Amino acid sequence: MANLSVNFAGVTFKNPIVPASGAFGFGREYEELYPLSTLGGISTKGTTLEPRNGNPAPRIAETPSGMLNSVGLQNPGIDSFLEHEVPYLATKDTRIIANIAGSTIEDCVETARRIEGSAVDMIELNISCPNVKEGGVAFGVNCNSAQTITEAVRNVTTKPLMVKLSPNVTSITDIAKAVEAGGADAVSLINTLLGMKIDINTRRPILRNNVGGLSGPAVFPVAVRMVWQVANSVSIPVCGMGGVSTWKDAVEMMLAGASLVQIGAALFDTPFAPMKIIDGLNQYLDDNKIENINDIIGKVQPW
Ligand SMILES: Cc1cc2nc3c(=O)[nH]c(=O)nc-3n(C[C@H](O)[C@H](O)[C@H](O)COP(=O)(O)O)c2cc1C
Repeated sequence: MANLSVNFAGVTFKNPIVPASGAFGFGREYEELYPLSTLGGISTKGTTLEPRNGNPAPRIAETPSGMLNSVGLQNPGIDSFLEHEVPYLATKDTRIIANIAGSTIEDCVETARRIEGSAVDMIELNISCPNVKEGGVAFGVNCNSAQTITEAVRNVTTKPLMVKLSPNVTSITDIAKAVEAGGADAVSLINTLLGMKIDINTRRPILRNNVGGLSGPAVFPVAVRMVWQVANSVSIPVCGMGGVSTWKDAVEMMLAGASLVQIGAALFDTPFAPMKIIDGLNQYLDDNKIENINDIIGKVQPW
């Protein structure tokens, strides 16, 4: 069996497969299906300083080869996360990536500060949520604000800091460079693409929020392109996601330059997707006589 472990921003992951924030909750429901220790890590549901109820329903819609969501960061708040979820996850022998967000820079700073003494292995600062009115994507679509919020959070945490980027921008490489300049240890991408679906009979948008974030296989080629562009523009490691549903997708994402791969929407129809992907990666490496998964990262050969 090949070596699947990767060192990502100074943190060792036993394999590169990580369920994506918002698609896996805090892992409890999935533990009934397979041991969480089989996963490289878990990116937990986006957590804010105060608890949030999220947006009104309906907030999920199916689309061709994908889904729209406007969940809007429903979460129990950082103190509850630290009290109930982190101690539970800390016993599971997997890496804990705490995905955080906030309406203001101060909110994000305070949330990161509270995480400091905990067992969390890495912070994933979400500056790319399209489903909340304040904050969210507002920070992630402008280089100055992306750099400023990264610097502010950097100043209060010694945890490795990954910043999650929005695809809803003109140049994702400019934003990636800005957060690198702000002190990010890594970037993750892509968050969802802003989309809309309308019921032609009622003439109402399907989502109560009117618009939502598109993810799933439909966005995969966009994600691969962006991961490849960003990996070639920054010196920090890249965590790739967006439409990964099979082991072949994971290989593609890694060839494009991702050293960690997150799995989101695929979990909704295939809860076992991470297990299947880890098995498939092993098989692919063995079949190709590659002993170390690190040997495929960024190894696409562009024309
Ligand atoms: C229902 C749902 C909830 C999500 N919630 C969050 C969140 O709280 N924080 C975050 O950073 N991303 C969130 N995302 C975005 C995913 O983590 C991921 O970036 C995106 O869905 C693309 O990956 P995928 O195509 O594999 O789903 C959410 C996605 C879905 C489908």
